[in-house]
Amino acid sequence: MTNTASNVPGRFVIGGELEVARIGFGAMRITGRGIWGEPTDRAEALRTLRELPDLGVNFVDTADSYGPGISEMLIREALAPYRHDLVIATKGGLARTGPDQWKPLGRPEYLIQQVHQSLRLLGVEQIALWQLHRIDPAVPRDEQFGTVQYLLDSGLIRYAGLSEVSLDDIEAASKYFSVATVQNRYNLADRSSEAVLNFCARHGIGFIPWYPLAAGALTEGGSILSRIAQRHNAKPSQIALAWLLRRSPVMLPIPGTARVAHLRENVAAARIELSDAEFDALSQASEV
Ligand SMILES: NC(=O)c1ccc[n+]([C@@H]2O[C@H](COP(=O)([O-])OP(=O)(O)OC[C@H]3O[C@@H](n4cnc5c(N)ncnc54)[C@H](OP(=O)(O)O)[C@@H]3O)[C@@H](O)[C@H]2O)c1
Repeated sequence: MTNTASNVPGRFVIGGELEVARIGFGAMRITGRGIWGEPTDRAEALRTLRELPDLGVNFVDTADSYGPGISEMLIREALAPYRHDLVIATKGGLARTGPDQWKPLGRPEYLIQQVHQSLRLLGVEQIALWQLHRIDPAVPRDEQFGTVQYLLDSGLIRYAGLSEVSLDDIEAASKYFSVATVQNRYNLADRSSEAVLNFCARHGIGFIPWYPLAAGALTEGGSILSRIAQRHNAKPSQIALAWLLRRSPVMLPIPGTARVAHLRENVAAARIELSDAEFDALSQASEV
């Protein structure tokens, strides 16, 4: 096996500069229960991360709040010194008060503090892609977008993205900075962000569908997913990922796992070619 990103078919260039393989890795699951503390099987989590370069995955999504701090620290432990083509995207804007507890916190001083912390934990001089994890409803959104503009201008971050946003939010943010990516919940069973996805495709903005496997629900497979999976000698989860990749050239799925076997399976999904009829049937299915 060669060690190049070309193992994964399909590339996208974030912000016109950061070239990534379109199947990325979501690093939220390499933490403990409730996305809190150390993972149950730390050695397997590290093995999973270390497998990424060999599989050609060069886009890793994390956040200051995963652990908190644990995901960023494990990424550094497993992958530093980083390959020049590795793109680590992190986020800020959610405070953690306990397992499974997430509170939007978009005050400028907190966002700036968290970027400094991510830089330190990841061990990088600049964050390649930083995403505002949530727009805090208690803080004027313009103040939060202005802070992102400051982070870009100061060179602490190279590109900026948004998460869980509407079309109106993207347009409002674009007055402050060029939105490189949008990360919204999207999968075969939940397409409520269809309009945002279409907007991203029209404007060359990377669309990062979080929850691409509906946290494992799509690994079970309903009738249509299972039928198509059987035809390809594949798992239902792989068909769900292949459908996402085919859905739009700006789609950058980041399935999350803490297991090497699942990572390999997810990455292999990029090689599955759905026929037009299969793609249409999945797109039109009301239940998968
Ligand atoms: N922007 C946001 O607000 C936001 C919110 C949530 C998540 N995210 C990001 O999106 C990424 C993906 O979302 P997600 O982790 O919630 O959901 P997901 O990728 O849809 O599902 C992850 C779950 O599916 C299981 N899984 C993964 N691959 C599998 C496979 N091949 N076979 C069977 N089970 C498999 C994992 O368990 P195992 O560990 O056992 O494999 C894990 O429990 C996260 O890691 C994070 O980076 C962003």
